[in-house]
Amino acid sequence: MTIPSNLHTVLALETSCDESAVAVMGIDSEKVHVHSNYISSQIDEHAQWGGVVPEIASRMHLEVLPFLVNKALEKSGKSFNEIDAIAATVAPGLTGSLLIGSVTGRTLSSLHGLPFLGIHHLEGHLASVLLAEHPPDLPYLVLLVSGGHTELIKVDINRKYSRLGRSHDDAAGEAFDKVARLLGLTYPGGPAIEKIAKSGNPKAFSLPKGRISNPQGGFYPYDFSFSGLKTAMRRQIETLKLKADILPVEDLAASFENVVAEVLVERSLRCALDQGLNRLILVGGVAANSCLRTMMSTEASNKSIDVYIAPKAFCTDNAAMIGAAALLRLSSGTNASSLQLGVSARWPLSQADSFYNEVPPF
Ligand code: KG4
Ligand code: ZN
Repeated sequence: MTIPSNLHTVLALETSCDESAVAVMGIDSEKVHVHSNYISSQIDEHAQWGGVVPEIASRMHLEVLPFLVNKALEKSGKSFNEIDAIAATVAPGLTGSLLIGSVTGRTLSSLHGLPFLGIHHLEGHLASVLLAEHPPDLPYLVLLVSGGHTELIKVDINRKYSRLGRSHDDAAGEAFDKVARLLGLTYPGGPAIEKIAKSGNPKAFSLPKGRISNPQGGFYPYDFSFSGLKTAMRRQIETLKLKADILPVEDLAASFENVVAEVLVERSLRCALDQGLNRLILVGGVAANSCLRTMMSTEASNKSIDVYIAPKAFCTDNAAMIGAAALLRLSSGTNASSLQLGVSARWPLSQADSFYNEVPPF
């Protein structure tokens, strides 16, 4: 089904991991608006297990989603008659969690005779920068840093994606979560480390900036590795524990946060300069980190690169970014997704166009 490109109000659902979220989003003359945006975080439930428990996540999405849909519609002042399309994240993520949002979205779309758009979660993160006060023009380089991904993605003038760099092991957010656990801090680790690092010395410990060797010689310039850093942190903590009863948690957290930010900033700027791109976009849960936001802005301005960062509230998972991605798809004249489109735990961003094929990819 081809959808007219003048449609402009979307109900969006996001349930790929541990946040259940619903938003009503609109667009006029290319500016995206948030009519309503609700997130029900499951963090407290998962925190006692030190990470996300998929079975608990799916059950909680199922419990809260109908309630969130009602609240989001009510707050937006819109009824289903005024909604032009329903969007839901369909990949990547936890399969059971994705299914709850996708089945809810497809059911609403069928009940109300509205087109359904399956959205790639990372395309949602990329679209979160449209919610900044001054969204960037194309082309640009994106640093996407979340709990599952650390990627450098070039977005060309036709909004086509090419991945130029990635982590070969842990994602940056995953490293924050694992190191927080080593330091005895709560889940999710990013905000906990950021908070305690504020009273620490970022130069207290010298930590490695993981690199990936190129078999042809040297290193891959835009790739990342965080598992060596995590091991270095574990060793440092073990050594310190042998020497004293009290760990300098503030200094350890500040040194870790600082080296992660340095690595992300250095490789992103090098990639942008090499590619001749003077716009750099920072999105994903880790983009909420103030140390990273400040370091990226300062270092980029020294190299005449403009930095665009998603507002903090839209860095971690939310449905407004999924709605923004759907609005972009609609304004470029997309087909609706088939109601047979399922969900996928993994799917490359570069193949997100296939979600709008008559015969769905999964
Ligand atoms: O984008 P997101 O909400 O979910 C995924 O798609 O993965 O990112 C969650 C990740 C978690 O690993 C969390 O620890 C990290 O983002 N995070 C942060 C901050 N807030 C969230 N990392 C560093 N500093 C923060 N302030
Ligand atoms: Zn995410």
